Parts: sequence; structure tokens; C-alpha cells
Amino acid sequence: MQFQMKQFDYLVLGSGIAGLTFALKVAPRGRVAIVTKKDRAESNTNYAQGGIAAVTSKEDSFASHVRDTLAAGAGLCKENVVRTIVEEGPARIAELIELGMKFSESDAPSENGGKQLDLGREGGHSERRILHAKDVTGREIERALLAAVARQPNIEIFENHLAIDLITSQKLGYVGTNHCLGAYVFDKKSGRVKIFSAPVTILATGGCGKVYLYTTNPDIATGDGVAMAFRAGASIANMEFVQFHPTCLYHPKAKSFLISEAVRGEGGVLKSLDGREFMDGCHPMKSLAPRDIVARAIDSEMKKSGADHVLLDITHKPAKFIIERFPNIYQTCLRYGIDITKEPIPVVPAAHYQCGGVVTNVDGETDIAGLFAVGEAACTGLHGANRLASNSLLEALVCAHRAAGKILSNPQPHSDLKVPAWQSGDATDADEMVVVSHNWDEIRRLMWDYVGIVRTNKRLQRAQKRIANLQEEIHDYYWNFNLTADLLELRNIATVAELIVQCALMRPESRGLHYNLDFPNLNPDWAQRDSVVRRSV
Ligand code: FAD
Ligand code: SIN
Repeated sequence: MQFQMKQFDYLVLGSGIAGLTFALKVAPRGRVAIVTKKDRAESNTNYAQGGIAAVTSKEDSFASHVRDTLAAGAGLCKENVVRTIVEEGPARIAELIELGMKFSESDAPSENGGKQLDLGREGGHSERRILHAKDVTGREIERALLAAVARQPNIEIFENHLAIDLITSQKLGYVGTNHCLGAYVFDKKSGRVKIFSAPVTILATGGCGKVYLYTTNPDIATGDGVAMAFRAGASIANMEFVQFHPTCLYHPKAKSFLISEAVRGEGGVLKSLDGREFMDGCHPMKSLAPRDIVARAIDSEMKKSGADHVLLDITHKPAKFIIERFPNIYQTCLRYGIDITKEPIPVVPAAHYQCGGVVTNVDGETDIAGLFAVGEAACTGLHGANRLASNSLLEALVCAHRAAGKILSNPQPHSDLKVPAWQSGDATDADEMVVVSHNWDEIRRLMWDYVGIVRTNKRLQRAQKRIANLQEEIHDYYWNFNLTADLLELRNIATVAELIVQCALMRPESRGLHYNLDFPNLNPDWAQRDSVVRRSV
């Protein structure tokens, strides 16, 4: 196998909102490589529907957005981080608009007779504060950011390049502070491993929805950044807080299609198959309660009734409004034979968002020098035990900006440490490659069955044993066979599954998204405690 070494000033892993925003901010000051494992737009960002939460109306206030975020986070948010992100949101939104992002505008004129942005509502928000581009907000964000990146000569994008592992001084055997020196990257087209070296590496690799059998996430969401950071010795926290979105379309042919919470924000109501509005007795906000509560209520309703889905009904709203406000959801459901203006939508909860991740401060700094994490891959303390809807795009925008500011104010020299070429196995065995896909399925199913919305210690321990066995097999393939993207991602989902279970077993209580029947109440000893795991290197 041949090796190539590429040197940049900034290495950005991932081309969603976090990676692209960061790249644009540092590009005027140095050469940037964006390494991304599929085509450039493919990311969770691209599928975001509801929008970005930010205080932009006179009726709203920072205090109210902070309060809603803290309430959703069930006591585990870091209040200073919440304040910073909420208060810096409007300035970042203004920059995004300046770059070319087109948010939907309201039909009602502003006070001075001009246009004003339309504000949507979502679960857990006490005000209308969600800026959106109809129901395809993420697609419009990616379009605007990628167009801006294309205008920036200092940025080079490497598509179909999958980062395998971070290169750190400790792993190379150097003593002293652990520095990140770049990453080993698998070029999916040539099958070669390249070395990308840079004094600053940004993990903007997103979340890990694909660890679960049913998810709203696209295939890229395999938790690679968290797994790489863990292997490199960074602290990882709060992985037990996996957010299950209450309303994923239930249809045998639909893969991962989300029905935005904005549908409930505009009046959509959850009903059992016999038409009962079962959220009525669960929470004062009914169908618009925070997601952990709604997802658990749906899970309980399905278990009680034996039904394999519930219904989301917005048929009481005028058809014209539904079609104009939710064109993508309307058209997609119609393709599956469901006219949402006339009939309720069959929905089920599905894994959606990773609230935990690589431990960072609000500037994206990890505990490895030269390594930053931003966006869904990071755990800043904004979300606590449960993310408030539409706060993740906001967090990515604000933290990417802050990380860039931090790095630009403290430039790092290029390292002169010698990075060795990649060593890998060279056998290919078709039979073993089939086992790779079986292992993928096995992990996703066992996570769904044993580490889902409602947990018990027995199920978590069972999952832990199975994951440990699978990891032994995966370790064996990894060192003995030719690399493939599937194998590398399998290794990462196994690591992330292990971390989710480990964090879940650490927490002897039920809080936010983590609900354990053996500990059904809050435990005051864990009120301010993150579940932190770290591998010694
Ligand atoms: P992503 O956008 O996921 O980008 C990750 C990037 O990293 C991708 O380019 C991927 O290919 C790349 N990558 C991953 N691993 C590697 C590797 N090993 N090597 C190279 N590249 C790699 N949040 C909101 O705030 N509002 C919403 O309305 C909203 N709606 C959502 C709807 C859906 C269907 C989904 C799935 C999520 C939604 N979210 C929403 C969550 C939000 O979209 C994500 O949290 C956010 O976009 C994450 O951005 P990111 O830049 O951190 O990661
Ligand atoms: C949605 O549109 O329901 C997703 C919003 C989010 O995940 O924040």
C-alpha cells in the first residue's frame, strides 16, 4: 500500500454545519482541508427540518430561551454555556443570512412595513422562535455554506475520504502533553490510507443515530468522531442521553424519514389508533411536551395497546397551509400513499440525536491539545440530559465561531514530530466481509432492544456482554483484513455502543432521556454529575 502525506493549517473532519462554519471562519488565515466521508452535502445537517432556535422577536427574550433549555435538560445543563450560546445566537444567524441563507418569511409585515422572518414553534419552547426554510432548513443551510466555501480558495474538500484515527503524540510514544497532529484518512475510491497533518484538527463528524436499528439519521451518523477521540484518550461524557425523536414516519418502505416537530408546533396532535389524544394526561404542553416525555408516552402507548405505531393528525388545518408550510413532508408522505391533509400520519419514535459526546468547553477545546470538537460530536453542556428542539444547529454555529476565534487568537506551530506510515492487514476474505454486515445488524438490533427508550440494568449488562464479544471479532478483522468503509464504521459503532452502555450503567437514576426501571427517580447525588469515560493511552 502506498502512502501520501498532506499538510494543512487546519484539518476539519466533517462537512455539516459545524465543519463548514468553522472552515469559513479560519480560511482567511490559512489552508484548510475538509475531509468528508461521502459527498460534501451528505450530513445530518442536510436533513434538518424544523429549523434553528434563536431569539429574534420582540416578544421573546434570552431569559425565556435559557429557561426552556434548562427545563428540557433536566438539571444537567451547564447554565453558563446555555447563556453564552443563546445570547450569541442572533449574531450568528445574522452572519448566516449575510452568507446567503434564505429563511422563510412571514406573510405578516413587520412594524415598519418590511419583511420579517417566520418563526415556528417546537416542543419545549414557550415562544415561537424557530427560524426555518419551510421544512428543509438543513438543505438550505448546506447549500448556502457550500456555496460560500466554493468562493474560498484556501479551502480544499476531500470527498469520500473517511478519517480512521487521530494521530496523537502519545500514541506515537512521545511523553508530555498529548497533542493531536492530524489524522489517518482512508480514501474510499483508491483504497489508500493518507496522512493529513495539521497543528489543529476539528472533529465535526456529527452523531451516532446508526447505532440503533431505527433512526432518523442518514448513513453517515456512525459516531466516528466520538470513537476516534475515545481511542485517542479524550474524555467522553453523557453518552447515555440518546434522544429518540417521537415522530419518524412508520412505513415499510420509508427509511429514516422524520416528521418534524414543527408539525406539532403548528397544531398536529398525537393520537392512539382509536383516536384518543393520549398526551392530554401526560404533560401540560400535551403533544408539544419535551421530546423525552413524548417519546416515552408513545412507547408506553404502543406497549399497552400492542400497536406498532401511533398517529399524528394535522388534518384539521387547511390543506393549503399544510402544503405550503411542509412541502417536503407532504410530498414524501404522498409518495408512500399518505395524504397528510386528509389522513393522520403513522409515526414511531426513532434514535435522533446524541446529547453526549467529546467533552469540550464552549470554545470547542477538548482535553487533547490541538484537538477541537464542534457540533453534535461535542458535549459542551448545552443540552444536559435532553436537548431542546432546534438547539443543535444553534450550538454548532456558535461553537464553530468561538472555536475559530480561540484558535486564531493563539496560532499553533506545525509539529516536527515524525508520523509513521499506516500499517494494516492485507488479506481479503469475502466470507468475513459478510460477517461485517451481520455484526452491523446485530449491534443495531441489540441497542434497540436493550438500550432503547426504557432500560433496565439487566438489559444493559446483557448488551454490554454481547458488544464485548463483537468487539473481539471486529478487532480481529481490523488487523487482519483490507480496510473497507463498512469495517471502519462497524468498529466505530461498536465503540459508541460500548460507551452508551457504559455511561448508562454509571448513572443510578432516571433523568431526561435516560430512563432506567431499576432507578425510576432522580438521584440528587447525580444532579450535577456528568458520566465521563476516558481510556488510558
Ligand atoms: P453533521 O451535519 O452530521 O455532519 C457530520 C459530517 O461529518 C458529515 O459530513 C459526515 O459525512 C462527516 N463524517 C462523519 N464521520 C466521518 C469520518 N470518519 N471521516 C470523514 N467525515 C466524516 N437540529 C436542529 O437544531 N434543528 C432541526 O430542525 C433539526 N432537524 C433534524 C432532522 C433530522 C432528520 C436529523 C437527522 C437531525 C436534525 N437535527 C436538527 C439535528 C442536527 O441536524 C444535527 O445535530 C446537526 O446538523 C449536526 O451538525 P454537525 O455539523 O455536527 O454534523
Ligand atoms: C424536527 O424538525 O423535529 C427536528 C428538530 C430537531 O431535531 O431539533
